[in-house]
Amino acid sequence: MIDLQNKVALITGGSKGIGRSIVQAFAKSGAIVCFVARNPETARKLVDEIRLTGAVCDFYQADVGDADQCESVVREVIKQHGKIDILVNNAGITDDNLIVRMKKESWDRVLNVNLSSLFNMSKAVMRPMMKNKYGRIINMSSVVAITGNPGQVNYASAKAGIIGFTKSLAKEVASRNITVNAIAPGYIQSDMTDNLTEQQQQAMLNTIPMHRMGKPEDIANSALFLASSLADYITGTTLHVNGGMI
Ligand SMILES: NC(=O)c1ccc[n+]([C@@H]2O[C@H](COP(=O)([O-])OP(=O)(O)OC[C@H]3O[C@@H](n4cnc5c(N)ncnc54)[C@H](OP(=O)(O)O)[C@@H]3O)[C@@H](O)[C@H]2O)c1
Repeated sequence: MIDLQNKVALITGGSKGIGRSIVQAFAKSGAIVCFVARNPETARKLVDEIRLTGAVCDFYQADVGDADQCESVVREVIKQHGKIDILVNNAGITDDNLIVRMKKESWDRVLNVNLSSLFNMSKAVMRPMMKNKYGRIINMSSVVAITGNPGQVNYASAKAGIIGFTKSLAKEVASRNITVNAIAPGYIQSDMTDNLTEQQQQAMLNTIPMHRMGKPEDIANSALFLASSLADYITGTTLHVNGGMI
């Protein structure tokens, strides 16, 4: 059992899918869990669910693509809970199209939400983490960062950028006892994958040696490990969680 008692975790995109599973897993491990999303309805239901278990959970409405909003979330969490020990940069979006049809706004938006958000949030937490001489930053990449995927030049570029960001920041802050790692999930069950046709699902399964999709909990368990003392000597790495795809 991983123990995150007395740790304050801030998770972006915590209201749905993988982020929701991370919020639940961290709360179960004793962390004080703060999470960010834009839509308050789903978020507030999750806050109520977690608080019923006796855990501490707060929701902050913000757009991670906006640096000022990220700074104000970090300020609020520190005002409320005194520190941030763990930052999980999980929020992400897709807006797929072949490059000939992809609009520049789609490129900019996907890069902003998936990649610039890491700059916004990590910069905002950095001085407080340095002052505390402790920090665990976990960034959500994707298998497509390595494999590429037609229709996803924007998303795959952002997710590949996350790996470079992770390695570079890890080297900058290693001496301050702050680790920075990434997780690259393969295909994980989500609203998006549930909406695929049976034929599309079969084609996807054929690319996975384990012949099944991952569950959000598979990714939450990896985040739990990287956030815990079991991973104290791991930094700058990318954990591939994909049923053997690469
Ligand atoms: N599912 C997969 O198969 C898979 C595979 C590889 C990597 N990933 C990565 O894993 C992460 C989570 O994916 P998921 O499938 O769980 O996604 P999801 O179910 O669509 O959830 C995305 C979360 O991010 C939040 N979000 C989106 N844009 C935001 C913004 N601008 N500011 C703040 N919050 C925002 C959403 O809440 P609001 O909409 O309310 O803001 C939601 O909580 C993403 O980074 C994704 O790229 C997923």
